[in-house]
Amino acid sequence: MSTGSYHFETLNDTAFQAERLRQQAQAVRGMEAGILRSAGIQSGHNVLELGCGPGFVSDLLAELAPEGSLYVVEPSRTLLAQVEGNVRNKPACGLYPIQAYGSQLPVPDSSIDFSYARFVLQHIPQPETVISEIHRVMRPGGRFCAVDSDDGLVVFYPEDQRVSQILRTAQITQAEQGGDRFIGRKLHHMMTDAGFVNVKSRILALTSSELPFNVLFNILLGYKASLLGNTVDIMQLFDDLSQKVAGGHQLIAGGVFIITGEKA
Ligand SMILES: C[S@@+](CC[C@H](N)C(=O)[O-])C[C@H]1O[C@@H](n2cnc3c(N)ncnc32)[C@H](O)[C@@H]1O
Repeated sequence: MSTGSYHFETLNDTAFQAERLRQQAQAVRGMEAGILRSAGIQSGHNVLELGCGPGFVSDLLAELAPEGSLYVVEPSRTLLAQVEGNVRNKPACGLYPIQAYGSQLPVPDSSIDFSYARFVLQHIPQPETVISEIHRVMRPGGRFCAVDSDDGLVVFYPEDQRVSQILRTAQITQAEQGGDRFIGRKLHHMMTDAGFVNVKSRILALTSSELPFNVLFNILLGYKASLLGNTVDIMQLFDDLSQKVAGGHQLIAGGVFIITGEKA
């Protein structure tokens, strides 16, 4: 069985990927705090973060639920070991790093008030199983928020053949590894099927006139480029697009789906 399309230890550029996750968390931190608050996170909540990576977003969750506890779940031992160092203020009831896959959470039934999965479900071969598992650990009235990509929301105008090639190759490669670059649109349905109620979806899109070019480029193409090997000169592409964006001749936009659901 495939374990999915994100194995930190086997990526060929781990230092760049860790930096990319840091940059990606920092650039949208204020916006993400607003998303999490409107999704229902509260100060005293027991929070579960699925696929926490090195913990840059865990730090934000701890800031938003300082009186509660934070369970961070991550299969990569290397990444999980970094979380303690990246969560600056531990929640009053504790930070609990758990090495596990989302399909089998070593967490009791009905024990979690708020769960968050950010850019994780796109990498998992059977996301339905993981969403059901999250549903199991939520208490009635608890809320689950998932943020994930959908390549249907990516716009480069004028089109660049190299970008189209990167997107096509990444879609195929990630699917071969059990992932799905079009998961965003499917999550509403999956959450409803798992038993969540009051499921709401929204799309948040950002353009190259709202985010620094390097941040948007790395969000949209950074992980995909690591799937490609050397078929595209990514640095050359970066320089070309950077100049065009600066000159006002290129627009880049990318969106994410934000889906929240409540356990009945
Ligand atoms: C793109 S990274 C996102 C990390 C973090 N959520 C963030 O936004 O910075 C995807 C993360 O999901 C983790 N992951 C992959 N498969 C998983 C699974 N089956 N269950 C839980 N986490 C998983 C990876 O190890 C990786 O840390």
